[in-house]
Amino acid sequence: MLSQDIQTAINAQIKNEYYSSYLYLSMAAYCESINFSGFGGWLRKQSEEELTHAMRLFDYMLDREGRIVLDKIGQPPSEFGSLVEMFTQVLEHEKEVSGMINKLYELALSENDHATSVELQWFIQEQVEEEKNASDMVENIKLAGDNSAALLMLDRQLAGESTNAPGE
Ligand code: FEO
Repeated sequence: MLSQDIQTAINAQIKNEYYSSYLYLSMAAYCESINFSGFGGWLRKQSEEELTHAMRLFDYMLDREGRIVLDKIGQPPSEFGSLVEMFTQVLEHEKEVSGMINKLYELALSENDHATSVELQWFIQEQVEEEKNASDMVENIKLAGDNSAALLMLDRQLAGESTNAPGE
């Protein structure tokens, strides 16, 4: 049985993952409204991935007979400035999420809750990838700089990657 503190913390993290999904969906809408459908597609996929993170925690809670209490999801911004500013926000957000996961992991360790610790190790690894992907995007956009042709090429390349994704 999960302790009350662990249940409260996992419920909070479920909400945080939903907020991440909402934030990236808002960013996707913004990109697509300025005709960057490739960047928008990348963000849509990221938004969907956040939902899988939330559901992974949701399922874990139910497997361990925890009580799910869903919280209110905050409203994400709808304006994000330039592409480089937006993707820097993605990177900063992922770093924040890594911090939240680390705190949750420390709580599980302090309670000798081994099952939750093991479950959270998946998230710790996942955050390494999430931060790397966001950081790569920031670097690529910085390389393109103010060159709109280069940005458009990057956008089209991302659009191609999401169209040619395996299984699609
Ligand atoms: Fe669920 Fe992007 O971390």
